[in-house]
Amino acid sequence: MQNFTFYSPTYFAFGKGQENNAGQYVKRFGGSKVLLHFGGGSVVRSGLLDRVKQSLTNEGIAYVELGGVQPNPRSGLVYEGIELCRKEGVDFVLAVGGGSTIDSSKAIAAGTVYDGDFWDFYQGKLVEKALPVGTILTIAAAGSEGSPDTVITHEDGMFKRGATGEALRPAFSILNPELTQTLPAFQTACGITDIMAHLFERYFTTTKEVEVTDRMIEGLLLTMIHEAPRVIADPDHYEARANIMWAGMMAHNNSCGVGRAQDWASHDMEHELSATYDVAHGAGLAVVFPAWMQYVYKNDIMRFAQLATRVWGVQMDFADPEKTALAGIHALRRFLTSIGMPGNFAELGAKAEDIPQMAKTACYGNGRGGSIGGFVALHEEDVVNIYNLML
Ligand code: NZQ
Ligand code: ZN
Repeated sequence: MQNFTFYSPTYFAFGKGQENNAGQYVKRFGGSKVLLHFGGGSVVRSGLLDRVKQSLTNEGIAYVELGGVQPNPRSGLVYEGIELCRKEGVDFVLAVGGGSTIDSSKAIAAGTVYDGDFWDFYQGKLVEKALPVGTILTIAAAGSEGSPDTVITHEDGMFKRGATGEALRPAFSILNPELTQTLPAFQTACGITDIMAHLFERYFTTTKEVEVTDRMIEGLLLTMIHEAPRVIADPDHYEARANIMWAGMMAHNNSCGVGRAQDWASHDMEHELSATYDVAHGAGLAVVFPAWMQYVYKNDIMRFAQLATRVWGVQMDFADPEKTALAGIHALRRFLTSIGMPGNFAELGAKAEDIPQMAKTACYGNGRGGSIGGFVALHEEDVVNIYNLML
């Protein structure tokens, strides 16, 4: 295991009705004037936003509102939010929604207290200071409720880029699984795919002897495989929603990723797809991940065979471990299809003609030096080959 530091100070309030305590948590973490940030309207329609406002009012906390965050959140609204926060003297950003709303909130929180252009953070500058952020999560997916990361798309060129910094870990996150029951099946499945992808990105490592995190990842993947069909069949299944929601947090706050090299090439390739076609992140990952696996598995057949046996229940073929490894990749494809995820470029609405550009941006954008991936280093030509496997 490699040396590591791990600091994850987020206070989690999990379960039914927790959103009604939002005002108390804002107060506890130092907020007196809040930016209430939300998406395209689901939290208005469900009545959640009204309950949160009531909770703030009950605690005597003032707020200003900014809705309209789009999936794959855009820079324009971030600039607007920064201006609003400065004008109104906001000292706390409360995100009510999914990963996109949380990421937009984090960008505003960092940008408000920064003299330069907030986009600097998305070009490699570490976020060291930000207003405190609280979250009320409505979809189990991105894991932004526990992560130090944010992903924003710059409208000038449609570049989708990430920023990071411990200052971006939410001060508190409210996770009520009931709030996810209004999700359309497609969004639920996208979330499940993203959660599993965060686990795969960490599982495929070159670091030896990482049994504790291997086993944690396998346990979370098994949970997702168990719960996904239950929640797709019955969207109101509280217990399944609850297990998925906590798995989503654990998959990405890096408790499963410490002490080991990680990959992340699939996320880099997916971000090009969602920047180019505005597809849902989870749907993009459903197409990217099996193709990436197909391309790289020969680099460590035994690790792929281990995943196949421990997670997908494949019988180990000791005479031909490659067969076992491939059976695991097939099992993942079957699973993703069973929950309604796309399997190729056509189903995603992506086009072969864009492959060269996406491969170039994936390898050279964001200050990258021409290759991506910590498990296997992929160069532009490899990325082209992997995109071609998705056709
Ligand atoms: O905008 P509203 O109306 O709220 O609708 C949203 C949106 O259309 C809807 N939705 C959310 N909760 C709902 C609901 N509809 C009904 N009932 C509910 N309870 O779902 C749609 C998707 O929402 P979004 O916030 O975009 O989803 P998600 O949480 O998957 O976030 C995706 C974004 O997170 C980034 C992705 O790249 C993408 O931009 N990521 C962020 C990460 C991080 N910060 O750590 C890591 C991830 O790997 C990921 O890259
Ligand atoms: Zn993701």
